Amino acid sequence: MSERKSSPDRDDSERAFFGRRKGHKLRQHQAGLIEQLLPHLALDIDGEAPADARDIFDPAADDVRLEIGFGGGEHLAAEAQNFPATGFIGCEPYVNGMAKILAQIEAANIGNIRLFAGDAAELLAWLPKESLSRIDLIHPDPWPKRRHWKRRFVQDRTIAAMARVLKRGGEFRFVCDIDDYCAWTLSHLARSQDFVWLAERADDFRLPWPGYTMTRYGRKAAREGRKAAYLRFRRVG
Ligand SMILES: C[S@@+](CC[C@H](N)C(=O)[O-])C[C@H]1O[C@@H](n2cnc3c(N)ncnc32)[C@H](O)[C@@H]1O
Repeated sequence: MSERKSSPDRDDSERAFFGRRKGHKLRQHQAGLIEQLLPHLALDIDGEAPADARDIFDPAADDVRLEIGFGGGEHLAAEAQNFPATGFIGCEPYVNGMAKILAQIEAANIGNIRLFAGDAAELLAWLPKESLSRIDLIHPDPWPKRRHWKRRFVQDRTIAAMARVLKRGGEFRFVCDIDDYCAWTLSHLARSQDFVWLAERADDFRLPWPGYTMTRYGRKAAREGRKAAYLRFRRVG
């Protein structure tokens, strides 16, 4: 498993990872999956990236997508099964989430997922340019306090990093139930030359896109009466 150290004390010009990597103790089977299955599926970003990201998969994928912070992996597993010719990279530093996706991969014999158990910013820096057709960021950690906004995943530098790895015409999709983070994301993407927001009418962001698989955090938000926004941005330029 590739995991790198990061310190919250680093200068903010350098990205730091702010989040949990460990939660409750893994059950024996989950621990076995982390030890035995993950090494076969994990990307080693200490090595050189392949020139063509489709070659990360065997057989080579038609196109490659990334899901950042997949949590319990409900959405990632469903997409991978719905689009078997597409290769999916799932990025999640939280070891319990990693164990959950591994259990789904094993149970449904999913062959088109590769994993990175670290900070998506480091993965983005490793991936070849113009290699992805889509990046999904679903219910990212909201960091609601003003003094923590700099910890949000969406920042000018991560937007530039996503623009580098997305193909022209590729998409960044963002789902969030925190109004302030949606506004933050819209304003940051609006000042990027690399993306256009695709909404033409309110339902384009009020409703999930067809085939969307609800996640644990999506269900929690709905239970607590918060409506999510579904934002789609196209890589242009
Ligand atoms: C609020 S949870 C949402 C999980 C899932 N997407 C869902 O909707 O249920 C946010 C997830 O993002 C992960 N995360 C936070 N920072 C990240 C980063 N820099 N790179 C990748 N994942 C990250 C966390 O570990 C956590 O599992």
